[in-house]
Amino acid sequence: MVNKISVIGGGHVGESCSLLASQQELAKEVILLDIIEDVPIGKGLDQWEAAPVLGFDTRVKGTNDWADTAGTDIFIMTAGVARKPGMDREDLLKINAGIVKSCAENIKKYAPDSIIIVVSNPLDVMAYVAFENSGFPRERVFGMAGILDTARFRSFLALELDVSVEDIQALVLGGHGDSMVPLVSYASISGIPLTFFLDQETLDPIITRTRKGGGEIVGYLKTGSAYYAPAAGAVQMAEAIVKDKKRIFPCSCYLQGEYGQEGLFIGVPCKVGKGGMEGIIEVPLSDDEKAALDNSMNAVKSTMDDLAKLDY
Ligand code: LAC
Repeated sequence: MVNKISVIGGGHVGESCSLLASQQELAKEVILLDIIEDVPIGKGLDQWEAAPVLGFDTRVKGTNDWADTAGTDIFIMTAGVARKPGMDREDLLKINAGIVKSCAENIKKYAPDSIIIVVSNPLDVMAYVAFENSGFPRERVFGMAGILDTARFRSFLALELDVSVEDIQALVLGGHGDSMVPLVSYASISGIPLTFFLDQETLDPIITRTRKGGGEIVGYLKTGSAYYAPAAGAVQMAEAIVKDKKRIFPCSCYLQGEYGQEGLFIGVPCKVGKGGMEGIIEVPLSDDEKAALDNSMNAVKSTMDDLAKLDY
């Protein structure tokens, strides 16, 4: 258990993160911070009032005051707005980059030794904004996307195969968008290659559904995006840090030459322990997989170019 986990942004993703982290007693205290007056305080109090029933002793506290995050060990950054009608991608990029930048500056001020897990969208580029503006080393800033994308892939495979989700291992690389790369060659059911169970014809629609998983949920929710699975992914990263588990997850990491790229965040397998992102694992890829990853990198680079043009 660490002393303090602070969740920045008290929307659906943030509030789900604070409840999950508290229920798992990952920290002595969980802070839920939002700028909307009073609302996070009410949500934090409500979650704390659930503690006697759910049986956790983590003190949950909602706040509007950054000073409450002082000394935080791990931040889960969910702050940002969702796209509203009439708003284009660039508007969203500009608004969220401004929000993440000011949060990163506060993080640097109140908890300079912390680790930041970024969940705000567009994910890979917001991880970069947090990295740039906190000035933290890459080991202490990384993004949660691969766990979510992999969880979607695993959940769909479990339905298709009628097997436990727990026995399905999979790896989804690339940017958090429709160009992500679910790697069939690295997917297995308890070590048995996925291709033993399913032919390409059956797999193709599952891969497409995984890529478009975020949009599928938005299509149903209409006014927002997914939150249960994204929060579960972020808290699983926090758990791996808190317990120094050395888990291998696909996370959005800052590349410094790995996979032939540098200067951007993208989803790659890495080791997660008490140091945060403790190392990137470069796995061999087939020509098709390499081409798909390059395509995904180009999508992230294009958003990075848009960011470079903005005064946020
Ligand atoms: C998703 C959004 C939240 O994939 O990024 O659901």
